[in-house]
Amino acid sequence: MIDLTTQYLGLTLKNPLVASSSPLTDNLDDAKRLEDAGASAIVLPSLFEESVHHEQKQLEKYVHSQALGHYEAESFQPIPEDYNGELDNYLQHLQNLKTSLDIPVIASLNGISDSGWIDYGKEMMQAGADALELNVYYVAVDPEQTGEQVEDQYIQLLTRLREQITIPVSMKLSSQFSSMANMVIKLQAAGANGVVLFNRFYQPDIDLDTLKVAPHIELSSPVESLLRIRWIALLRSRVELSLGATGGFHNIESIIKVLLSGADAVFLCSVLLNKGPEYISELLQQLEQWLVKKEYESVKQMQGSVSQSCAIDPAAYEHCNYVKVIKSYHS
Ligand SMILES: Cc1cc2nc3c(=O)[nH]c(=O)nc-3n(C[C@H](O)[C@H](O)[C@H](O)COP(=O)(O)O)c2cc1C
Repeated sequence: MIDLTTQYLGLTLKNPLVASSSPLTDNLDDAKRLEDAGASAIVLPSLFEESVHHEQKQLEKYVHSQALGHYEAESFQPIPEDYNGELDNYLQHLQNLKTSLDIPVIASLNGISDSGWIDYGKEMMQAGADALELNVYYVAVDPEQTGEQVEDQYIQLLTRLREQITIPVSMKLSSQFSSMANMVIKLQAAGANGVVLFNRFYQPDIDLDTLKVAPHIELSSPVESLLRIRWIALLRSRVELSLGATGGFHNIESIIKVLLSGADAVFLCSVLLNKGPEYISELLQQLEQWLVKKEYESVKQMQGSVSQSCAIDPAAYEHCNYVKVIKSYHS
């Protein structure tokens, strides 16, 4: 019997395949299907700073208009006693998942400003979250803001969250940092237990009929996994914290490659939206078959064995191969 367990953020997961944050983890039935198929943990969709702020503003407006002396008006409607805001609904869903599932449940917060939203992490912890993923989705467009200031913003948010909660925290990062290794080391020093590499930026498109910017979301493609595999291999021997891989993992080959590179967990989203939660069990079977064929006894044994430090050609993931690759192109 092959041992598929892995350590991620100090949690022992029964295998490395985690259901990433997506609409599938937003309802109990799909979450159960994910668990039944073998997912070793699930990440909830993020609680977004802007939705919470928007809701607060709407509520303030509502309360203000009611307070302006319209109590006698027929249209006066007190806030219903059973009114549940975004946060309450989120916490309720989290509690339901904790009651119904045996696998760890990771909550997720998304935002950037240094305002109260980060404090919701504490409530997520109290509602039973096993860990928290901080997804700082930030597009730096201010020409006055330096790269260092952007990085400091990430560190400050993490520090503030760390002060509030004792459960493990991972940072879900985009690949757009000048010095990825340095950034990860700084996050580690500020108390991150792991990083998840890499978040995908959704690219707005232009609608040629309306000539307006149109929101656009496309599921990932398998080629995106290569960037993650490379960076996990480069970072594995340089950092202590857990490494999660997300983005483009659609088949067992890419999952095996990123585990060999040193990933502790692989997060799946697009492939599950395309093929359904049950696809996890197929991937797990294929993983076991591969391990048997290659005579590995456990996932731990193969994890990181091709990461940069023990690769025969340590430069393969750095610059050297660039010239070789360019010259190897045949039209
Ligand atoms: C429809 C959809 C909703 C998502 N919602 C979230 C979210 O709320 N929070 C988050 O951190 N990531 C979210 N993601 C990103 C995924 O968790 C995942 O990191 C990303 O899609 C890359 O993995 P993949 O290639 O397996 O899709 C979402 C992705 C999709 C497609």
